Amino acid sequence: MKRRSLPLATLAAAALWTAFAGDKNDASTTWTLPAEVATLAPGAGLESVRANCALCHSSDYITTQPRLTRAQWTAEVEKMRGKYGAPVPTNAVPELVTYLVTAYGNEAKVADKSR
Ligand code: HEC
Repeated sequence: MKRRSLPLATLAAAALWTAFAGDKNDASTTWTLPAEVATLAPGAGLESVRANCALCHSSDYITTQPRLTRAQWTAEVEKMRGKYGAPVPTNAVPELVTYLVTAYGNEAKVADKSR
């Protein structure tokens, strides 16, 4: 059994390699990203949010959240970093969270009646 499994694994690896190598995804392939649909509210930390949170998804993921607490926004940012691999430096987290909770959280100064 041990003797047979190695060549089989090699064959499977070769088949996989061929499948991927056959995918002609060369440098001339161009991608057009959809236009950003959401506009983030002004506030301290906005540039940091733009720099750290626009990499993977539209900012309407942020603007359509319910008014989260500071703890909830912190958990959200940590989830982006830990679970989804967002390259957000540790020292940027407090500024991001403060922006999020004051612009889109329960620490917003002006109550938005539409929410
Ligand atoms: C590395 C990619 C990546 C980056 C960078 C990123 N996110 Fe996300 N984000 C995701 C993924 C993946 C999801 C889940 C998408 C889905 O469920 O369709 C998500 C979902 C969300 C959601 C929706 C609620 C949820 O938990 O699913 C919010 C809010 C959010 N992100 C906020 C942020 C904020 C704020 C930042 C900046 C600190 C950020 N994201 C940066 C990948 C990223």
